[in-house]
Amino acid sequence: MNVRKLEGRVAIVTGGGSGLGEECARVLALHGARVVVADIQAESAERVAASIRDGGGDALAVACDVGAEPPIQAMVQQVIEHYGRIDILHNNAAALDTAQRHADRDVVNVDIAAWDRAMDVNARGAMLCCKHVVPHMLRGGGGSIIFATSGFAALGDITLTAYAASKAAMIALARSVAAQYGKQGIRSNAIMIGLALTEKSAAHMPAELKQILLDQHLTPELGRPRQIADVVAFLASDESSFITGAVIPVDGGWSSHSPALAPMRAYFEKIGSNKL
Ligand SMILES: NC(=O)c1ccc[n+]([C@@H]2O[C@H](COP(=O)([O-])OP(=O)(O)OC[C@H]3O[C@@H](n4cnc5c(N)ncnc54)[C@H](O)[C@@H]3O)[C@@H](O)[C@H]2O)c1
Repeated sequence: MNVRKLEGRVAIVTGGGSGLGEECARVLALHGARVVVADIQAESAERVAASIRDGGGDALAVACDVGAEPPIQAMVQQVIEHYGRIDILHNNAAALDTAQRHADRDVVNVDIAAWDRAMDVNARGAMLCCKHVVPHMLRGGGGSIIFATSGFAALGDITLTAYAASKAAMIALARSVAAQYGKQGIRSNAIMIGLALTEKSAAHMPAELKQILLDQHLTPELGRPRQIADVVAFLASDESSFITGAVIPVDGGWSSHSPALAPMRAYFEKIGSNKL
């Protein structure tokens, strides 16, 4: 692996102030990128950017709510004034706070404000970031855009209706951008993330639920933020120069197998055999 594969590039990570976005910002910086940590939480963005700078990297914190267009325009303008170019956009921000999760239920009971917020932040926010970043990438000769999506985008589930629809929209967006600007040097890909435990999810998710989810992953452990960030850095770099319009599961096999796998595994364990 080329350790400084993003030297000289400028990367924006939305929602970079915590969780997976924070790790992605750190790993892109480790590879030499100048990183813009854009987050609705100004203090979190500043904390991450400052610690990247303390480690010898180059980072800029920008307070930005991707749920509305003017802050996105202002953020992109600030990046251009500061760094003069944009090569990488990681659309990572998502409305995922506890109130949002609780309000985003099954179709009959989904709160309409929660639906709108998921769409505004996750899907429309990613589209607006592309809308304002792509012209700068075109001027610079190309770029790489990564969309953080989820297994919810592809698989039905009993809750998080709005989140799922917003993540599916992001997959369509990733492909639209790939089709529209590929000939001008812009690549665009979506990653479908399994459960990668962040500080927040590690602390708040009940152990029983973690176990249910782990049983459906094919890996010995749930994901770690670094495993997501390494794929984002790969997609951001020239190492992935022939990958575009792709939806890449980064999910420990979560989306790859029969829905009966976990109960079958438990059944075979119970009967002490896998021979029917
Ligand atoms: N962690 C996982 O296991 C997992 C699984 C599947 C998909 N994902 C996706 O990965 C991404 C990151 O997830 P996470 O677990 O780190 O979430 P998180 O909630 O820990 O972090 C989200 C970040 O986005 C920021 N944010 C929220 N609303 C914003 C807005 N309007 N404008 C700008 N920033 C905003 C938050 O302040 C926070 O820093 C999300 O897109 C999520 O859907 C994560």
